[in-house]
Amino acid sequence: MIYVANSEATPGAETTVRALVDGASGLDAIEAGIRLVEKDPSIRSVGYNSWPNLLGDLELDAAMMDGDTLRTGAVGALRGFLHPVSVARAVMERLPHELLVGEGAARFAAEIGAEAAVNETEDCRAAWRRMLEANASPEQLADWPSGPLAELSMRAADPEVGRDTTVFLTHDRAGSIAAGVSTSGWAWKYPGRLGDSPLIGAGCYADTAFGAAACTGTGEMTIRASTARSVVLYMKTGMTVEEAVMEAVDDLRRLRGGLLFGVQIHAIDPHGGHKVVYAYQPKMEESLARRAASARHWFWREGMAGPELRDSERVRL
Ligand code: GLY
Repeated sequence: MIYVANSEATPGAETTVRALVDGASGLDAIEAGIRLVEKDPSIRSVGYNSWPNLLGDLELDAAMMDGDTLRTGAVGALRGFLHPVSVARAVMERLPHELLVGEGAARFAAEIGAEAAVNETEDCRAAWRRMLEANASPEQLADWPSGPLAELSMRAADPEVGRDTTVFLTHDRAGSIAAGVSTSGWAWKYPGRLGDSPLIGAGCYADTAFGAAACTGTGEMTIRASTARSVVLYMKTGMTVEEAVMEAVDDLRRLRGGLLFGVQIHAIDPHGGHKVVYAYQPKMEESLARRAASARHWFWREGMAGPELRDSERVRL
C-alpha cells in the first residue's frame, strides 16, 4: 500500500492513511481525505474559503479516477457546494458521463443531495477587493462588472498566490490504484476558466496496471502537455516511475508562450515506487526561496507509523 499527496493535503492525510490501513478502497480513502481539505478554511487553494475568480466568485474543480475500470468523474466551475470531490465521484458512479461543468454540475449536485454551502467568506472577498483595487482602472471600476475582463486577467495573474490544488494518489490493500484532486483553480482566473484538475489526463490519471500521476501548479501547462496521462503512458512503455516523471518534465520544457510557472508532478507505480518533482521556471528562483512549503509532499507506505511530509526534488524547467 502507498499514499502520495501534495502539501495542501495536510488536513486529510492521516484520515486517508488510516482508511487504507483499515482496508478501505483507494476511492473511499481519497474521498474521505479530500473532503477534510475542502472544508478546512486554512487551505486557501481548495474548497471553502479559497481563491475566487475575477468576479469574486468561487468556481471549484475536482476529479476522481478509478484505476481498475478507468472510469472517471469530474466537475468544473461548480458553485455553491462544499464537497466537489464527492460530486465528481457521483458523476463517475451515477451518470453515463465523465465531466459536468457550471450550472449542470450544480444541478446534479443538488439532485444527489450534496451539501450546499456559501464557500465565499469575508476573508476571500476582502482579498479579491484588494486585487481589484490594485489592478483595475478607475474606468473599469466605474463600469464594474460589465466591461471587458481580459486585460485585468493578464495583469492580475500572480504566481505568488492561488496556484495550488490538492492531489491524492493511492495503491490500496486490494492492489487497486486511484487518484483524486480538488481545487479552486488560480486566484483571479477569468470566469469559466477550467484548470487541469477536472481534465482527466492533465491533472490526474490512474491505471491499476501501470500507475498513477497527479499535478499541482500551473494547469495551463499540464493541459498542453497532457502531463498526468503522459507519465502513466511512459510507464506503460517500460520506463520506471522516475524516468516517466522526468520525461514528462522534459515535455513541459518544450512549451513556448502562454502561462509558464511551476508544476509539481506526483506519481506512483504498482510496485511500491513513487516520485515527486517540483519543476520550476528560472524566473521563480527568488520566490521559491521565500516559499519553503511549495515543494513538499505527503508520503506513506505500508509499515510506516503515519504519513510523512517530505521535501520534493526540485528541477529547473
Ligand atoms: N493546477 C490547478 C489549476 O491550474 O487550476
